[in-house]
Amino acid sequence: MALVELLDQDLILNQIDRRARDKLTNLVIETSLDSTNSALQRLPANQQHGTAILAEQQTAGRGRRGRLWHSPEGGNLYLSLGWRFEQPLAELGCLPLVVALSTATALTRSGLFGHRIKWPNDLLLDGKKLCGCLVEVQGDARGPCHAVVGVGINIKMPPSEAAAAIDQPWTDLKTHLPDCSRNSLATLLLEELLVQVSLFADEGFTPFTESWEQMDGLRGQRVGVSTGQSILQGMVVGIDANGALLLDTGVETLSLHSGEVSLHKLI
Ligand code: BTN
Repeated sequence: MALVELLDQDLILNQIDRRARDKLTNLVIETSLDSTNSALQRLPANQQHGTAILAEQQTAGRGRRGRLWHSPEGGNLYLSLGWRFEQPLAELGCLPLVVALSTATALTRSGLFGHRIKWPNDLLLDGKKLCGCLVEVQGDARGPCHAVVGVGINIKMPPSEAAAAIDQPWTDLKTHLPDCSRNSLATLLLEELLVQVSLFADEGFTPFTESWEQMDGLRGQRVGVSTGQSILQGMVVGIDANGALLLDTGVETLSLHSGEVSLHKLI
């Protein structure tokens, strides 16, 4: 059996660039956790900002919309970062998009190409899911807010019944980049998240608009959207200032919020 490259705190701290290192308060690496997002949320609020938690395995990894995130040991990446925002909750609608863009850039810097974001923050390669992001924000409607941003990247998914049962097409990074290093990718992901989330806190989404347009895998696509009550069809025409998806149904342009919908491409 091939040896697994375990996560190494010293290696990551030695590799990470200065700009990101200055924003990192604490780096924790655990062998096994229920969920890195949950572990961060259990910390006192004043210890969350700038703290990153990684785990080799999650026993109760959480996905969006109440789903499980299959998190076996043996080669994937599970990472969460805490961040305090002074803004009101309503101004953080684009944060999930910034997290997806940061992850996409880390993958590009690792040598991957061809990956795209499926709004709000799935990363797909050849139409198959490679990463997922779970952004959870708590706080006062008028601010401050505490966000926990969690990223799961399939690097080397060990074969198992649970992996075979994942309810959507997926892929892993080793299939496309056989030499990728987990510690290098963790370092790049931390660099991007620390710098880009901080930029979003200072300047909002404006600095990200152009890269969103480049990485948006849905713009101009026909999609079906399930809202719980109804199923809509239409053409994706972009996002609004709050990060909501703009869907042109032919009758009207609707703004759809990520917590409320699930969506699939129509051929
Ligand atoms: C999704 O696509 O549904 C989101 C998946 C997010 C998974 C990551 S793994 C690290 C962090 N901890 C969790 O429990 N979930 C996120």
